[in-house]
Amino acid sequence: MNILLIGSGGREHALAWQLAQSPSCAKLYAAPGNPGIEVYAECAPIAADDVDALVAFVRTHDIDFVVAGPEAPLVAGLADKLHAIDIPTFGPQAAAARLEGSKGFTKDLCARAGIPTAAYVRCADAAEARAALADFALPVVIKADGLAAGKGVIIAETRAEAEAAIDDMFGGAFGGAGAEVVIEEFLTGEEASFFALSDGVNVVAFGSAQDHKRVGDGDTGPNTGGMGAYSPAPVLTADLEGEVMERIIRPTVAALAADGTPYAGVLFAGLMLTDEGPKLIEYNCRFGDPECQVLMIRFRGDLAALLHAAATGGLAEAPPPMLTHDYALTVVMAANGYPGTPEKGGAIRGIAEAEAGGVRVFHAGTAREDRTIVAAGGRVLNVTATGKSVTEAQARAYAAVDKLDFPTGFCRRDIGWREVAREAE
Ligand code: AMP
Ligand code: GLY
Repeated sequence: MNILLIGSGGREHALAWQLAQSPSCAKLYAAPGNPGIEVYAECAPIAADDVDALVAFVRTHDIDFVVAGPEAPLVAGLADKLHAIDIPTFGPQAAAARLEGSKGFTKDLCARAGIPTAAYVRCADAAEARAALADFALPVVIKADGLAAGKGVIIAETRAEAEAAIDDMFGGAFGGAGAEVVIEEFLTGEEASFFALSDGVNVVAFGSAQDHKRVGDGDTGPNTGGMGAYSPAPVLTADLEGEVMERIIRPTVAALAADGTPYAGVLFAGLMLTDEGPKLIEYNCRFGDPECQVLMIRFRGDLAALLHAAATGGLAEAPPPMLTHDYALTVVMAANGYPGTPEKGGAIRGIAEAEAGGVRVFHAGTAREDRTIVAAGGRVLNVTATGKSVTEAQARAYAAVDKLDFPTGFCRRDIGWREVAREAE
């Protein structure tokens, strides 16, 4: 089949790499793609959130199947429009993509289905939200309801901070995303991510990962989209994974199906492993970035066929996802200035040298200037390696990082530290 992959980051480079190797993929297109993706795919200069232009491209290019990388086109109804012209899409229709698009929607679904998650209230204006604070201990979590590019979550240590966050959100600091606010109980524990594929009815596990959101070593400095990740996350033991499937993932898929809005795609559950068991922090309706890169480097099999099965109600008949038992770890190389204003245009050399020995350097934010690859985003490269332990995967990833010549870039030097420390015990 001919496949259109939507997106332009490291997540999509990793997906493109696996899709291009899939026996069931005939021709791969990407919109808009990036210089890493163009090695495997014909790239079309269409923005990932330009739903109408994407649909028009599908109509005119004999596309059989669309794989959505990011959430924005899904929340905007891409899968609905493609469904209307009988093109299967990996990624949910808008009604089910509300799992990511509206935190209040997800909290209400959890409440109805008895899914373990933090206690919460939804508030429609600042006065209501300020009054609701009285029911929560400190710290308290204040969230803008809608999509806020990962920035709409404030953990307030004091009541004054909480009130300021509420006023900011209703004052438009996150645009339309803050038209409604969710106030949540603060959960404590270790965070882990879990991925499952759903075809609307059937669900299969697709592995676990942990990421590093802060920009600096030792988990310091501002939040980012993720500075590195590893998979699997050993804290999420087989027993805990089973509990997550039974108590969180399956009830979610069942509730959406019962509502007449079945979920087809990947469910990315952000979890807090609390003393009372795993609790859902949030859902995303896409693979994580950079979590996808470590999942893809472990994946074995025909990814295109598996994702197509999820998109067409065929997961029960499809071979279950196969991930190697190796560990994978990815280090994000970012441009100086990230997560503020990243420096653009810095030349990158040494990618082929870094990839010697089975390491993959996925392009996250690059451009091609003549024959040179240059930085063109905040997160620029994802240096991804495998090993028999997280420690080995980490050593191989950093050895590759050290072969890169990217003077205007930086990375964290401690990706995987929690697990490396546990492995040393
Ligand atoms: P989210 O965008 O919902 O994933 O939130 C971003 C980050 O905020 C999460 O990865 C957690 O570290 C933190 N967070 C969100 N909700 C809570 C909560 N209820 N308790 C503790 N931390 C939270
Ligand atoms: N790395 C976190 C995310 O993709 O949301």
